[in-house]
Amino acid sequence: MVLEIPKIRLRDGLEIPVIGFGTVFLKGSEGVLAIRSAIEDGYRLIDSAYNYENEGTLGEAIRQGPASRNELPVTSKLPGRYHGYDEAIKAIEESLFRAQLDYFDLYLIHWPNPKEGKYVEAWKALIDAKKRGLVRSIGVSNFLPEHLERLDKETGELPVINQIEMHPFFNQSSQRRWQEERGIVTEAWSPLFRGRGLLGDETIMALADAYGKTPAQIVLRWHHQHGAVTIPRSSSPERQRENLSIFGFELSGDDMKKIDGLSRPDGRIDDQDPAVYQEF
Ligand SMILES: NC(=O)c1ccc[n+]([C@@H]2O[C@H](COP(=O)([O-])OP(=O)(O)OC[C@H]3O[C@@H](n4cnc5c(N)ncnc54)[C@H](OP(=O)(O)O)[C@@H]3O)[C@@H](O)[C@H]2O)c1
Repeated sequence: MVLEIPKIRLRDGLEIPVIGFGTVFLKGSEGVLAIRSAIEDGYRLIDSAYNYENEGTLGEAIRQGPASRNELPVTSKLPGRYHGYDEAIKAIEESLFRAQLDYFDLYLIHWPNPKEGKYVEAWKALIDAKKRGLVRSIGVSNFLPEHLERLDKETGELPVINQIEMHPFFNQSSQRRWQEERGIVTEAWSPLFRGRGLLGDETIMALADAYGKTPAQIVLRWHHQHGAVTIPRSSSPERQRENLSIFGFELSGDDMKKIDGLSRPDGRIDDQDPAVYQEF
């Protein structure tokens, strides 16, 4: 049975489901199987990136899967080494050729790389790529308010979405509030903490028991009630379906606060602070 997933409308009119599918590390024929099974299960938003080196896999899974192109929004991201204007346009074209797609629905700058200081130039390239129809909607990933403010000041155009690390151990409450006030949708990467212990946390497990749900469903429901789009990854069809089944229950305000209380300043997965982290 294919589940209907609620949608959210971005500021520029693009509608995307509130849960998509993450694809980092999913490559080759195993990757095709995992992504195709996600599409068969009803995922209608696929997250990828130049640096995941799986655009060929992604394109193959889309061709094999049951969804038509116009009902399956696809995201990709620009790596730091191509922040120069001309390089950025070529990188987008290369990604499209590899995936054998005509356009990306969403295209993001992967990291701001503030020490390099070229993210405004990259943003201008994305604005033009959109005008040329290479991409439908443009956004960023891992941008702090200071980076977003600079984009606004120098180009007059703010991203419609910012994909940031967000899970109960690092809940991004102030960044999310800042974005909400400006109509920027928050998309959460590594929502399940990459399988590194969050799902065995005592508070999460107790809530799973109380609601008769799995720990992953509790965590993804918490994201949803905070208004964030999530993109959990799983190579197991059962867990892919489990992660989509979060719409038949609601966490109480007190239980939301319990999960909020797990956040800590050093709760990032690999200590990747966008103010200093560089990704090429
Ligand atoms: N913009 C960025 O800088 C950035 C950074 C990181 C990630 N991302 C994106 O965000 C996506 C999601 O993040 P992620 O892949 O790092 O990690 P994640 O989705 O938080 O966690 C994936 C891990 O959780 C396990 N898992 C999934 N569902 C489960 C369930 N129901 N019960 C138990 N375990 C479960 C998976 O194992 P199984 O496969 O065995 O189920 C896998 O090991 C990525 O794939 C990528 O598209 C973006």
